[in-house]
Amino acid sequence: MSNITIFDHPLIQHKTSLLRQKSTTNKEFRELVEEITMLMCYESLRDLPLEDVEIETPITKTTQKMLKGKKLAVVPILRAGLGMVNGLLRLVPSAKVGHIGMYRDEVTMQPMEYYCKLPADIDKRLIVVVDPMLATGGSAIDAVRQIKSYGGNQIKFLCLIAAPEGIKALSEAHPDIDIFCANVDQGLNENCYIVPGLGDAGDRIFGTK
Ligand code: PRP
Ligand code: URA
Repeated sequence: MSNITIFDHPLIQHKTSLLRQKSTTNKEFRELVEEITMLMCYESLRDLPLEDVEIETPITKTTQKMLKGKKLAVVPILRAGLGMVNGLLRLVPSAKVGHIGMYRDEVTMQPMEYYCKLPADIDKRLIVVVDPMLATGGSAIDAVRQIKSYGGNQIKFLCLIAAPEGIKALSEAHPDIDIFCANVDQGLNENCYIVPGLGDAGDRIFGTK
């Protein structure tokens, strides 16, 4: 069973409610996605390894902690995952970025992969897969499977809104990954959209509808 973290921070809840509103503009939507991702990043990277480093303050020499290695890769699931990338890069600017292109077939709801480009040393990195929506879980399950086929072995999945069905499916398919959800909603409707959700995340980020 995956390690599952559901956030209950008031800032995350407030910003997600703004995100859900249909009156929110594309510009506001993009800004909110980035802000919520930053807040999630703070907590989800709590276990990054540290090392002792000698530094000098204006007062004295001292041994303090700094991040060890900085071997991180962010992998957005296109398109909507792109909206979360900067939220992570603002806090971990040296991270490498891979991309997995995937869309849900509108009839079968099955994920269709159209692109995959990952950092060459993906097997040595902590990989943070980002996608705002975890609905049936099909896209996330396939993306993680693809990353594992390239050697990825230390994987965290971050989403803004999850359906309980998606969390169950993803954690059963990949019990070794850590799952972080800013919010968990009631479930899916007959079109496999999350209810109450926020609609189509990709269209709202990129203004394509
Ligand atoms: C959305 C979303 C996820 C997927 C979730 O992408 O960003 O990738 O659906 O659904 P699932 O859990 O049932 O697989 P979409 O297929 O709309 O593509 P887009 O990001 O290009 O709009
Ligand atoms: N993809 C979205 O963008 N929204 C949903 O509610 C489900 C899948």
